Amino acid sequence: MTTPAIPLHDLHPAPDDFLGEVLAGLQAQPKTLPCKYFYDARGSEIFDRICELEEYYPTRTEVGILERYGDEIADRLGADCALIEFGSGSSLKTRLLLLALERPAAYLPIDISRDHLMSAAEHIAKRFPGLVVRPICADFAGTLSLPELPDTVRSKVVFFPGSTIGNFAPEPRLALLRRIAAVCAPKGGSLLIGIDLQKDVATLERAYNDARGVTRDFNLNLLERIKRELNADIDVSAFEHRALYSAREERIEMHLVSRLAQRIQLADASIDFRAGESVRTECSYKFAIPGFADLAARAGFELESVWSDELDHFAVLLLRTG
Ligand code: AVI
Repeated sequence: MTTPAIPLHDLHPAPDDFLGEVLAGLQAQPKTLPCKYFYDARGSEIFDRICELEEYYPTRTEVGILERYGDEIADRLGADCALIEFGSGSSLKTRLLLLALERPAAYLPIDISRDHLMSAAEHIAKRFPGLVVRPICADFAGTLSLPELPDTVRSKVVFFPGSTIGNFAPEPRLALLRRIAAVCAPKGGSLLIGIDLQKDVATLERAYNDARGVTRDFNLNLLERIKRELNADIDVSAFEHRALYSAREERIEMHLVSRLAQRIQLADASIDFRAGESVRTECSYKFAIPGFADLAARAGFELESVWSDELDHFAVLLLRTG
């Protein structure tokens, strides 16, 4: 039996300007690179391995929360909801939530990568026959609109797991929460979001400096990608991975540090590095629940429920907009 084609709601996100953004970042002071470029095929595969590391507690802790409190979460969300996922999830977390929900009426994953989105949508459609699946190809940092929802939908729930919100700096984070609130409009809806909590520095730094060097490979793969796709002249072995917690900024910062004074070539530009100079490749903010609730309130959300693990390492929050 052939499965019917899944209709794609395509918002035609603008293609990334990989070269332009990399050049701008490396020519800035201090040097930075956008973390969204970690996720080429190899980077996505390494990220999946990070999620299984003993040191990287967020994934298994969030999964544990969804396993333990899935029924309670589903009760709060109610029957017949449309689940709108920011990022496309063929992942265990999406499946756990869909299994717990009473008669989910539709599943709408949003992702910028058409291929990834469609394969995740197909995976969920196969696993949940009868569920209306409507993938949306869009940049969730841009304007969003939903396709027409089935008449059976009684409420909208945005699901944003993984503390991906932590990779957004405070201003873009507020803008993103406002866009999520707009997706919930006009009648209001819910946001179920996973956030990584502030904790002792040793646990945080261990999570980004695993013993097997998987996170190091993830970070260095960004340079490999720049070298391969942009034809840059870079000696990747002349850089090393560093991840540190900044208590002042309340974030883990990942850096690539130049082992020596060197010059790299990218397009027509020459970029000089001093020995020990770093490129910041990622910020991963860690939250306190009251601070996150205050920010979400500025986007129109009210905090309704919090579920967390015994160690308070990670939390899943339910927020509502009126
Ligand atoms: C995707 N994001 C929430 C991860 C994080 O923890 O900030 C990305 C990551 N970077 C290194 N390890 C995991």
